[in-house]
Amino acid sequence: MRIAFASDHAAIELRTVLMDFVADLGHEVLDLGTKSRESCDYPDFARAGAEALQAGRAERAILICGTGQGMAMTANRFAGVRCCACSDVYSARMSRAHNDANALALGARVVAAGLACEIVEVWLRTSFEGGRHSRRVAKIAAV
Ligand code: RB5
Repeated sequence: MRIAFASDHAAIELRTVLMDFVADLGHEVLDLGTKSRESCDYPDFARAGAEALQAGRAERAILICGTGQGMAMTANRFAGVRCCACSDVYSARMSRAHNDANALALGARVVAAGLACEIVEVWLRTSFEGGRHSRRVAKIAAV
């Protein structure tokens, strides 16, 4: 898959670790910044990731800020984007299996790099179960 990555200044290190990790898993990485350590606004980078999904330039997006919360709040305002903020492996797995999440938000000040890699690997490997969950996911889009 092609995976878009975007972060604010608070998560440059974790983004770098995760981009290398995901490339080692055999995925293509689309790096949407931020490139600079200067303080910036997370909605600008959530937008970049969400628009990459909407345009089909990436199949999944991983959005990282201090907590993951601002990234998720912003990304979920874009039609067709289903973003989960996860700090545990179970939620990451279920966000794919039941919610067909196409964006994952992580908090660099919440999860250590090792756990973040585990969350990302499970999130990328887990398939949507479909069935009754398809009806529910369709209702999200219809809200
Ligand atoms: C930046 O200090 C911080 O507010 C941001 O990274 C993020 O946690 C917002 O949700």
